[in-house]
Amino acid sequence: ALIRQGTYWTQSIDADYVSAVLPRRKPDGHKGAFGKASLIAGSVGYTGAPVLAAKAAVRTGCGLVTLGVPESIYAITAGKCDEPMPYPLPDTKGQFSKKALQSFRQRASGSDAVLIGPGVGRAPEAAWLMRSLLEELSVPVVVDADGINALEGHIDVLDRRKGRVTVLTPHDGEFARVGGDLSGGDRLGTAREFARAHGCYLVLKGHATVIASPEGTALINTTGNSGMAKGGSGDVLAGMIVSLLAQGAGPMAAAAAAVWLHGRAGDLAAQALTEYAMTPQDMIGRISAAFQSIR
Ligand code: APR
Ligand code: MG
Repeated sequence: ALIRQGTYWTQSIDADYVSAVLPRRKPDGHKGAFGKASLIAGSVGYTGAPVLAAKAAVRTGCGLVTLGVPESIYAITAGKCDEPMPYPLPDTKGQFSKKALQSFRQRASGSDAVLIGPGVGRAPEAAWLMRSLLEELSVPVVVDADGINALEGHIDVLDRRKGRVTVLTPHDGEFARVGGDLSGGDRLGTAREFARAHGCYLVLKGHATVIASPEGTALINTTGNSGMAKGGSGDVLAGMIVSLLAQGAGPMAAAAAAVWLHGRAGDLAAQALTEYAMTPQDMIGRISAAFQSIR
């Protein structure tokens, strides 16, 4: 449907769009057919973000989810994961060290899509790792949270990925750190300009999340509510996007469908539990109901 955004009219995402772009599930498919998502996330102090993202990825349908976390939080992470497969990576003082690059390379080889950044912290070595992964990975990469913060002053890393698929998922604060200027109040125009300039897909989160492509197209989301404004909601979304990418959805489709389903799961959680009491975990539990509501 067309909706008005300031002085512009833009296409909004709806159930029909999501239904049309969701990857079909082959009846005779095995787990390899539904894609492998590799996540690298977490630090001492952020033990929830990696688990929320990994569980959301599983719930969104990909065949295999592996999760690299700093050694220091491996045991607590493993205790919370059944379906996602966590493994330890080298760290110093609870955040990834440079040595994690080599180990991640081995463990994540053969993956169909990668998510970097949730809760990795802002230590210089962890930030270096985020940039190094972006430089070398050729599969589609979702960059969230501290993965985006690591690009502050290093936006050239993003520019050098042109031709490869990058999905950036900032909230306004993270967007500002990588040069997004929202002072004019035009979220749609600013998002489109940024995506075009840096050759990436941009998911500018918030109320009425905007998704923009490097080709200049954009979509606006209509689902979601203020009960989602709680630490952890963004991690759930990042996991959902990488899951759809791993299943073979195109980047615009993966981002837009995940954003819509995520907001729908949030709306269903609010209906049942109130915007006050709902949690990101409750949203993961309603991803299934969100899928059911599109057909
Ligand atoms: N209406 C609709 N959707 C909303 C609203 C709202 N009023 N408020 C928030 N949301 C949605 C956003 O669109 C987004 O999908 O909730 C999600 C919030 O994501 P983030 O802003 O990334 O928040 P959070 O989950 O807390 O991030 C976790 O990562 O960004 C860092 O510093 C952050 O450490 C924190 C961590
Ligand atoms: Mg976030």
